[in-house]
Amino acid sequence: MENAVTQHDNHGLATRLVHAGDPQNPRRSVAVPVVDSAAFVMENYAHHMQIEETLSTAPYYSRGYNPTVEALETKLAAIESAPAALAFNAGMAAISTTLLTLGRNGGHIIASDKVFSTSTRWLQENFSTFGGEVTFVNCNDLAEVEAAFRPNTRAVFFEEFTNPLLNVLDLEGLIALAHAHEALAVVDNTFASPALFRPYEFGADLVVHSATKYMSGHGRVLAGALSGHQALIVEIAELRRQMGTIITPHNAAGILQGLQTLDLRVGRASETAHRLALLAVDHEATADVYYPGLPGNVGHDIATRLTGGRYGGMLSFTLNDQSKKAAVYDAFELIIRATSLGDVASLVDSTDDPDVLRISVGIEDPDDLAADLEKALNAAL
Ligand SMILES: Cc1ncc(COP(=O)(O)O)c(C=O)c1O
Repeated sequence: MENAVTQHDNHGLATRLVHAGDPQNPRRSVAVPVVDSAAFVMENYAHHMQIEETLSTAPYYSRGYNPTVEALETKLAAIESAPAALAFNAGMAAISTTLLTLGRNGGHIIASDKVFSTSTRWLQENFSTFGGEVTFVNCNDLAEVEAAFRPNTRAVFFEEFTNPLLNVLDLEGLIALAHAHEALAVVDNTFASPALFRPYEFGADLVVHSATKYMSGHGRVLAGALSGHQALIVEIAELRRQMGTIITPHNAAGILQGLQTLDLRVGRASETAHRLALLAVDHEATADVYYPGLPGNVGHDIATRLTGGRYGGMLSFTLNDQSKKAAVYDAFELIIRATSLGDVASLVDSTDDPDVLRISVGIEDPDDLAADLEKALNAAL
């Protein structure tokens, strides 16, 4: 859980992605070993008594602590430049465990009205049964956010790149507003991934990811990641232990492997996505194209400042003739019709918005992807 990265503090992101959390195990393995054990040996009664005090941080039982999970958490903290991190068995496990911790005993959360549909449904349908309160607001409008604060507001929760229209929100403005009201800024940074920017470096208190997406990168592992202030992470770790929302050791190994190539994958996906966005803009079948790298996109300047000019692999578009949406969706041959994102394989999703198609650009040959998109768009002519 703690960030033991002193030897990598001076290294760049790409180095931290590969090396932070490296094993210092007795067998001297280069790759992090998968410690597949539910429980850990107690030396004696005194050891057992001592460890009872630290069930979510010490080797006792893998619902609270596991060495492979710890290696992943060390890497996550190092990547995000945060003091501590936790890994969960899904993005939703990270989100629900975090917001439940903050919402206990009547805590109020201000949530963006553009967060992931299951986050929205969970907040709407279940959060209040645990004693929390929620208000949904348009986070593009800081005045609306300001008006939503109550004395018991504990956090503002938002996705920095919105789905599916890829608006980029005023990160620093939202963080400043939360802090002015003594609330926390909790950012879901799944769409951008830490390869583009790291909200903790801009003052966010907690950063959450569906690690299923870019962090895994290969579409095999469901996982969630959380990083942030030490004291908050310790509190959330205890609820994770009680609810059993920790990641499994095997899935932690999958995310550790995926993270090593995150920077390369997101770099490649960003370049290709930018090219595909320009292709879509020029195509006569499209009405609007949404990509943070396009100057007309909401928040383009903010994206440029946050990312230094690398805009990620997600893009969306609408068609002039909306009745052709199904024909375009069905016409993709290389880009796979599937709902996830951040995979090495390019995926197209029909999205909850009836007008929008969304592409998660992978790492295939850019010429092949451009040809596939052009052919699919031609189906709308
Ligand atoms: C932005 C965002 N946050 C959270 C989640 C939930 O993550 P998971 O599917 O890993 O539970 C998703 C899933 O699509 C997502 O897109």
